[in-house]
Amino acid sequence: MAADWQSQIRANPLAPKIQVDALHKGFGALPVIGGVSFAIGDGEFVAIVGPSGCGKSTLMNTIAGFEKPDSGEVRIDGAPMAGPSPRGIVISQHGSVFPWLTVQQNLMFGLNGARHETDPSERAALADHYAAMVGLKGFEAHYPHELSGGMLKRVELARAFIVKPEILYLDEPFSALDALMNLRMRNELMRILEEERHTVLLITHDVDEAIYMADRILVLSPRPTTIQASFEVNLPHPRRLASPEAQDLRDALLKELGL
Ligand SMILES: Nc1ncnc2c1ncn2[C@@H]1O[C@H](COP(=O)(O)OP(=O)(O)OP(=O)(O)O)[C@@H](O)[C@H]1O
Ligand SMILES: [Mg+2]
Repeated sequence: MAADWQSQIRANPLAPKIQVDALHKGFGALPVIGGVSFAIGDGEFVAIVGPSGCGKSTLMNTIAGFEKPDSGEVRIDGAPMAGPSPRGIVISQHGSVFPWLTVQQNLMFGLNGARHETDPSERAALADHYAAMVGLKGFEAHYPHELSGGMLKRVELARAFIVKPEILYLDEPFSALDALMNLRMRNELMRILEEERHTVLLITHDVDEAIYMADRILVLSPRPTTIQASFEVNLPHPRRLASPEAQDLRDALLKELGL
């Protein structure tokens, strides 16, 4: 099932939403991204797996416009990436909910400058709609410290969805959650993506998470990182991780990761 990524780009019928060309990036003397090229189609869900410290977060931050590449280029809809924008929302590994704002206020904050709703009651209604979408109805007036870890993650997801981003950048969004909540959030994300299609780039260390959700999985090499392998996931949703096809894919991915 492994295939050369270049042939996969050619085989991809979707218009590229994100085009990454010969990207290099280091920090001082430390080379981190060692020449990465790939494309993500409009509405495609691509997952990235790779060893810890190989440069996954750096790659995502560079694609999202938060880091400048040393060389190479990122294009969004064919235009050179000019920096972070509400068109592409990052959910980082570290979390970004404001502890001094309620759930509703956190969601309304995300609307600043991103949408045209200016009437506060309209913005509040929109915030409540997205809170309900991630199962937080009734908790709109709660503060983050009054929520569980899983609920906090859902606030983050809602905060990303509310600006209707064209691209969702997810850096290990569920890794801090317990196994059950992790499974719930996967399903939640798949359900939301069915309602509102977004282009998704997901970083995960969880091979099953990638197999469950992604259209395509890229395996990154150790630092300085390059794309070591690419796998199409041609399985219907909802996926059964226990199916022979999923098991084969898991074996192949783990082999690529040296496990
Ligand atoms: N702002 C920075 N300044 C200096 N070095 C950095 C910076 N950000 C990342 N690095 C270094 O770049 C390398 C890759 O880091 P990165 O966070 O991209 O890895 P990762 O693949 O996301 O790892 P993990 O799976 O543990 O999250 C690491 O050696 C890290 O120390
Ligand atoms: Mg990381």
